[in-house]
Amino acid sequence: MDNLSVVILAAGQGTRMRSNLAKVLHPIAGKPMLHHVIEVAASLEPQSTHVVYGHGGEQVKECSQAYDVRWHLQSQQLGTGHAVAQATPAIKDNQTVLILYGDVPLISKETLSALLNQVSNTQMALLTVILDQPAGYGRIIRNENQAVEAIVEQKDATAEQQTITEVNTGIMALKAAPLKKWLANLNNENAQNEYYLTDIIEMAVSAGIKVATTTATDALEVEGINNRQQQARIERYYQQIQAAKLMAQGVTLMDPNRLDIRGEIEVGKDVVLDVGVILEGKVVLEDGVRIGANSIIKNSQLHKQVEVAENCVIEDAVIEFQASVGPFARLRPGTHLHKKVHVGNFVEIKNSELAENTKAGHLSYLGDATIGCNVNIGAGTITCNYDGANKHKTQIDDDVFVGSDTQLVAPVHIKKGVTIGAGTTVTTDVEENQLVVSRVKQKEIQGWKRPVKKNKQEK
Ligand code: UD1
Ligand code: CA
Repeated sequence: MDNLSVVILAAGQGTRMRSNLAKVLHPIAGKPMLHHVIEVAASLEPQSTHVVYGHGGEQVKECSQAYDVRWHLQSQQLGTGHAVAQATPAIKDNQTVLILYGDVPLISKETLSALLNQVSNTQMALLTVILDQPAGYGRIIRNENQAVEAIVEQKDATAEQQTITEVNTGIMALKAAPLKKWLANLNNENAQNEYYLTDIIEMAVSAGIKVATTTATDALEVEGINNRQQQARIERYYQQIQAAKLMAQGVTLMDPNRLDIRGEIEVGKDVVLDVGVILEGKVVLEDGVRIGANSIIKNSQLHKQVEVAENCVIEDAVIEFQASVGPFARLRPGTHLHKKVHVGNFVEIKNSELAENTKAGHLSYLGDATIGCNVNIGAGTITCNYDGANKHKTQIDDDVFVGSDTQLVAPVHIKKGVTIGAGTTVTTDVEENQLVVSRVKQKEIQGWKRPVKKNKQEK
């Protein structure tokens, strides 16, 4: 919408969070709540987005550099009307202004689109919600024809007005020109001595502008976060929505309440996620992928029929068709497992490629390694990739058999078909098909006696 400008209020102190971090930077699903709001605003393709921030907001600005927004300092928190007025001078009169809040992170694009559809030159739009316990909120005052006449804040409301359950979410949309005029006419003669944005409703009605309302169907969508309990509640609500979306796409969740999504997940059909799975960043799970309990997968692509067993940690990895991982495997950034590779328990892999059908079943560290196909990496194999100053590469060609407890001192190249005997320390390149073994010759001492424990009295 090229005539849309969004204003996001984020100058409140957030003292009830009891935190050194600015409130709007506290995360929902791993992402600062303000960024959720900026992103939903961006999805409406506005001409400009304005964030009103307060003292200490430098931290907020710094964390939000990736976004195309304009910043307006509200140096004293004199009220929501005063806050909006910090941004409006930068907005042209012909725009529609949508007002959002940095601490109301889960407002949806659908709700906002419905609200924006109600705005015209003769009508403004207000988002309300019905609450069983409306205490603390501004009440929506309607006349006998159900037309909105005003919003009265809790602290200014009569006992009768306080029984009204339809409340102001704070989110509204209207034309910039009248908004600017009304903001200029606000005063702070009220219980809180604040310049209330909500006072513009009465001004609109006086000016013959109709106040249309959209009512949010789910209170949690429009709930603001002021403390850690609300944060936790909104987090769970967000996770329920994510779980429902995945199930609608054909994913089996062993328990939709025990899954956490902290990013954008792309899924195929018949994916199965066990309990305690955490998916972060950009994760692709193709058809038939199965993820075991308590595995964490971040910024990775799992191709068709990949199986990840329990308790794996996988980051920035590509795992191809029918490969299997874990339990208890750690795949660090730059891991690429080709088709049918198997990585087993207590194996750590970093910046390494394992070609088709290669297996590393147990207790190994593979770092900065390029490994061919049909290679067997024995238990306890270590690539010694770091000399204390620099990292070096290990190359293992096709069909190599690496015996257990081998150290590969990089840089080193093990050529095709080599067999490495168990317990070997390989320090130089090995030519094709050779057996390499470095091992102290075994000796046996006959008649050797084990030491016996000294008697206490003899001491
Ligand atoms: C406001 C509404 C109330 C509504 C409620 C919904 C007004 C006068 N009242 O009340 O009708 O039911 O929200 O939650 O608007 N902010 C600033 N600068 C300021 C003051 C506030 O940026 O000077 C921001 C805060 O960071 C917060 C939001 O505006 O995100 C709401 O402010 P708050 O003081 O919490 O308003 P309420 O009293 O809850
Ligand atoms: Ca509030």
